[in-house]
Amino acid sequence: MKHLAIIPGDGIGKEVIDVGMEVLDAVSEISSFDYDGELFDIGSERYLGTGELLTDEDISSLKKKDAIYFGAIGDPRVKPGILEQGILLKMRAVFDQYINLRPVTSWFPLVPLKREVPFDIHFLRENTEDFYMGAGGTFGGSRKNACVKVRREMYDLEMELKTKSSNNDDFAFEIGLLSRKGITRFADYAFNYAKSRGESDITLVDKANVCTHIYGLQRTIFEEKAEEYGMGLKFMFVDAMAMAMIVRPETFGTVAVPNLFGDILTDLGAQIQGGLGMGGSGNINPKGVSMFEPIHGSAPDIAGQKKANPIAAVLAAQMLLENQGYPEEGMMLHKSVRYCLDNGLTTPDLGGKLTTDEVGKAVCRYILNQKT
Ligand code: NAI
Ligand code: MG
Repeated sequence: MKHLAIIPGDGIGKEVIDVGMEVLDAVSEISSFDYDGELFDIGSERYLGTGELLTDEDISSLKKKDAIYFGAIGDPRVKPGILEQGILLKMRAVFDQYINLRPVTSWFPLVPLKREVPFDIHFLRENTEDFYMGAGGTFGGSRKNACVKVRREMYDLEMELKTKSSNNDDFAFEIGLLSRKGITRFADYAFNYAKSRGESDITLVDKANVCTHIYGLQRTIFEEKAEEYGMGLKFMFVDAMAMAMIVRPETFGTVAVPNLFGDILTDLGAQIQGGLGMGGSGNINPKGVSMFEPIHGSAPDIAGQKKANPIAAVLAAQMLLENQGYPEEGMMLHKSVRYCLDNGLTTPDLGGKLTTDEVGKAVCRYILNQKT
């Protein structure tokens, strides 16, 4: 029995998670997968009513769960940033979900690329370090020592700039930081993940020709790990990767990518696979509580109109099942999505005429028909 936390959130998050739960019910009816889901009212309604975002009580209840199934948050009445920082980013930090898993699968006929070659890229984006945390350089020794060195480097930079320019100017800077510990756990996850998919190598994306410090260290550690796992390692610069995703996406399997570049490449990935409605995502801590969600937001423009495409939420449920040790059940959901696309059982965003619930019913029907 798996204990799941269900956080529908706001807007269409609620509508697609309703479908997702019906789908999980259907799966549990015909397989050994079984679950109980506890609903959490985390989101804008509660925030507007009580001022609460993610409370200590929420956290201690969520900690006891096997996984979190999440819809989306966002409400036009709430200032941008409040819900994201107070709920989503806090959740990722508290549960140390250091891997963001984003599969990019060719969902024909939705793929906008001219060449009709099937592809299945699995992006693993590092979720906690790089340019999204704010400190920097490569150092040995203690954290305190690192801080002293960063300050010294900043001072040197300041002096250099002062002597070079006579006029006053404004300056801003951002530092990317990677740690041996952070890179090591990222590499371990990536090689294990690729291995579990029967692949013999992974691709590491970076910009090691320009940002030599951080991505140099990352390459060194990934090389050590490749040897340890007896697997291959290919390097790609991020700019070349952006092009390759358009002209030869079929040549990639598991792709490890640092935080900032991963943010950008996975959005490109979402588009080449068929759009927002087809994207599932996992925020993973392999030893902790992971969270699975569709990549889209709360879509206030269509909320309450039964137009929301629930497929991304179904694909997020697939990832949840796989992560929890039910790969065959996960594959069943994947095939149910293929069945919907092949038979035009889709919502208006994909050119179909069905409502959110009707697509959900079609998915459930497909699953229940798999009963042996
Ligand atoms: P969005 O993803 O909610 O919507 C973008 C566009 O795509 C809209 O026109 C929407 O109608 C359409 N769309 C999205 N998902 C769809 C689906 N399943 N079926 C059919 N059409 C769909 O992004 P937007 O509009 O930028 O943000 C709306 C709110 O969602 C904001 O408050 C934002 O902060 C939040 N958001 C939350 C996320 C999360 O909870 N992880 C992720 C992205 C945005
Ligand atoms: Mg993004």
